Amino acid sequence: MSAVVVFFSRSGENLINGKPVKISIGNTELLAQKIAERLNCQRIQLEEMDRYPEEYKNTVDRAAYEKQENKRIAYHPVAIDRLKIDTLFLGYPNWWGSYPRIIATFLEDFETDGLAIYPFCTHEGSAFGSSLNELKEQCPNATIHCGLPVRGSRVDRSDIAIENWLLMDK
Ligand SMILES: Cc1cc2nc3c(=O)[nH]c(=O)nc-3n(C[C@H](O)[C@H](O)[C@H](O)COP(=O)(O)O)c2cc1C
Repeated sequence: MSAVVVFFSRSGENLINGKPVKISIGNTELLAQKIAERLNCQRIQLEEMDRYPEEYKNTVDRAAYEKQENKRIAYHPVAIDRLKIDTLFLGYPNWWGSYPRIIATFLEDFETDGLAIYPFCTHEGSAFGSSLNELKEQCPNATIHCGLPVRGSRVDRSDIAIENWLLMDK
């Protein structure tokens, strides 16, 4: 049995400490890279079929609508052999106080019963928001372990936090 890192992240215009900045690799993607490297495990990015806009504001508006309407988000197929996986490291940006709808959609599709889930997120101040409660509700038969929240602008300085987090729960 083994672990897999599954995450969603968006590159393009973002707000860093309140200022618009264009980033070519999303914050959560960078964090996911670090975690997967440290664990030496497979890393899978969830990619929406209908790409989010480059512009921050347009993405924020679309995400608000998707959340309000509980939308399912079509994403490119992912190849995970569920029978070989017992641990899921699940990464996402905090969007409107929780995980983006693409994560909710993935959790609807993926058999999470019996899984150990380690959530991690990036954010601009609200850490996990209400996402851990939602995760518990969506995955009632999984064991949700302590999560790692990292401020988006601090991902490049998160190695020690990652190390400590991975040592917990052992
Ligand atoms: C649609 C949208 C909604 C957001 N909502 C929040 C929020 O509610 N709380 C927060 O702290 N940050 C919020 N942010 C900021 C992101 O969580 C933060 O920039 C994150 O690091 C982006 O990760 P990514 O580059 O992997 O997409 C939001 C960003 C976007 C695009």
